[in-house]
Amino acid sequence: MEKMKAALLGLGTVGSGVYKLVQKRSDEMVHLIGTELEISKILVHNIKKERPGVDSALLTDNWKEIIEDPEIQIVIEVMGGIEPARTMILEALNAGKNVVTANKDLLAVHGKELLDTAEKNERDLLFEAAVAGGIPIIRPMKQCLAANDITEAIGIVNGTTNYILTKMFEEDMSFEEALAQATELGYAEADPTADVEGLDAGRKMAIMASIAFHSRVVFDDVYTEGITKITAQDVAYAKEFHSVIKLLGVAHNTEDGIEVAVHPMLIDVDHPLASVRDSFNAVFVHGDAVDDAMFYGRGAGEFPTASAVMGDVIDVARNLKYGCTGRISCTCYRDLKIKSFED
Ligand code: NDP
Ligand code: HSE
Repeated sequence: MEKMKAALLGLGTVGSGVYKLVQKRSDEMVHLIGTELEISKILVHNIKKERPGVDSALLTDNWKEIIEDPEIQIVIEVMGGIEPARTMILEALNAGKNVVTANKDLLAVHGKELLDTAEKNERDLLFEAAVAGGIPIIRPMKQCLAANDITEAIGIVNGTTNYILTKMFEEDMSFEEALAQATELGYAEADPTADVEGLDAGRKMAIMASIAFHSRVVFDDVYTEGITKITAQDVAYAKEFHSVIKLLGVAHNTEDGIEVAVHPMLIDVDHPLASVRDSFNAVFVHGDAVDDAMFYGRGAGEFPTASAVMGDVIDVARNLKYGCTGRISCTCYRDLKIKSFED
């Protein structure tokens, strides 16, 4: 039986989870996709780093070994950052390869360019892990809720800040110590400023709003405010008001246009979002047909994120096996007004 070959770009928190999950599920893969799935190359930055449990023969720091390998049909980008990830994804799609990525930084700015390139080449470009880690949210919005006019998506979409706020409220832990723990647990971005200043949540909200409202929202359209100014005194005041503080992403599509923002908010302890603790995320969606729907789960970390990445990889592999590649388009057809906070 011919194997389906994939390359991993990145072997950090998420890449390691994907690698381990492929090994763990190798027998089931045959049933899930009709053939064996093999990670045949892994691109890393530092080739000399010790990587216990990983076959060192797979490692490379040379992109050419991947892009020029005709047997590799799926590229899994879990390096992060804008470049070289953007160029590599474009080159992969233009070379006829399919791509799965978890890279919200890239999608929130260059999503249109990447999706147009995928469509032009009739390739798959899937990115379930880019929003809310392990929670299925992109595919449900794109497919299961496609018949709805979605007017609202609100939620906690950053695991690191939710972990920090949980520790500050429940254990009186300092911001710095909680951030150090979140980093140690693999939740934080390579530069955690993106988490604590609300930028990561803003990028996810831009991607989610684009899908939800069938429009193009980019990171620059999103108002962002993080949690770095929240002090122990704020925590004490919130408790006096029977409330907690959560970093919320809010996206609305009204007659006046689309408005997307991320900022800390006081939430009554009895509100369902108040019970979203630790690295968990939750997203509420309102559609005219479905009414309210809620999605809840782990928003960050090695295996929750690998779960979302591998769901996409399995879809891409099935599409390849059964000749359906490039069929699930991600067309954003509405040209809606994006309201800025100055409006
Ligand atoms: P890490 O920093 O843990 O890992 C990054 C990996 O990419 C490392 O293996 C690094 O190599 C490699 N890498 C970075 N730059 C290059 C380069 N120029 N060339 C080759 N290899 C490179 O990141 P994460 O695993 O945490 O995140 C990866 C992606 O997934 C990011 O886009 C992130 O936003 C996203 N994501 C992360 C989640 C999480 O919970 N961590 C959840 C959802 C999405 P080396 O090992 O040699 O340093
Ligand atoms: N740093 C991100 C978070 C990773 O904490 O939510 C998941 O996207």
